Amino acid sequence: MTRIFTVAIDGPAAAGKGTISRAVAAHFGFAHLDTGALYRAVGVKGGDPVAAAQSLTTEDLARDDLRTLEAGQAASQVAVIPEVRAALLDFQKRFARRPGGAVLDGRDIGTVICPEAEVKIYVTASAAVRARRRWLELGGDAAPKAYDTVLAEVEERDARDMGRADAPLRAAADAVTLDTSDLSQDAAVAAAIALVARALARRDAPGA
Ligand code: DC
Repeated sequence: MTRIFTVAIDGPAAAGKGTISRAVAAHFGFAHLDTGALYRAVGVKGGDPVAAAQSLTTEDLARDDLRTLEAGQAASQVAVIPEVRAALLDFQKRFARRPGGAVLDGRDIGTVICPEAEVKIYVTASAAVRARRRWLELGGDAAPKAYDTVLAEVEERDARDMGRADAPLRAAADAVTLDTSDLSQDAAVAAAIALVARALARRDAPGA
């Protein structure tokens, strides 16, 4: 497919956006951009975050420490700086409208990066469920952090991401909310694929 088609997937930390986005992109042969990785790379680079955002390289994005809880917190902190967000804007906007279809996951894709996205999904889950997933990923009882600490960090990040002045996390008015609290990964992926398939069918319907 050479036509432009954007799937915007937003939501709070550990709601399942990454898994869903990768699966949707693979299913439809769309390109995928994990926009959180941009903010994580800026956060872990150190020094002046605005300069880091303006000079981000592919090596910065290939670092193997981007997925840690610390990188997530650092990302959330630099993400409140309007000049950091501005420096990352054009790349994301161009990626969203590249020919062949694109899936972007983040916090402001449906609201700021690509308000014209053909599909917008707001993936969420209760803070307790998201914290438990993160804690299990870290090793559960063998994790270096207690569940309560992970929950406090998830809640702190939610408050910062939702409370910032510039491009706060919120569902776009025309987004479909997918609550994964009580869904298996497979069920959540299937629901997202069905939403995209329906939008593609509508677009390709005769007379559309
Ligand atoms: O999705 P993630 O956990 O990798 O994102 C890390 C942080 O980056 C998140 O807490 C806030 C910020 N972020 C953002 O502000 N806007 C985005 N589109 C993506 C991430």
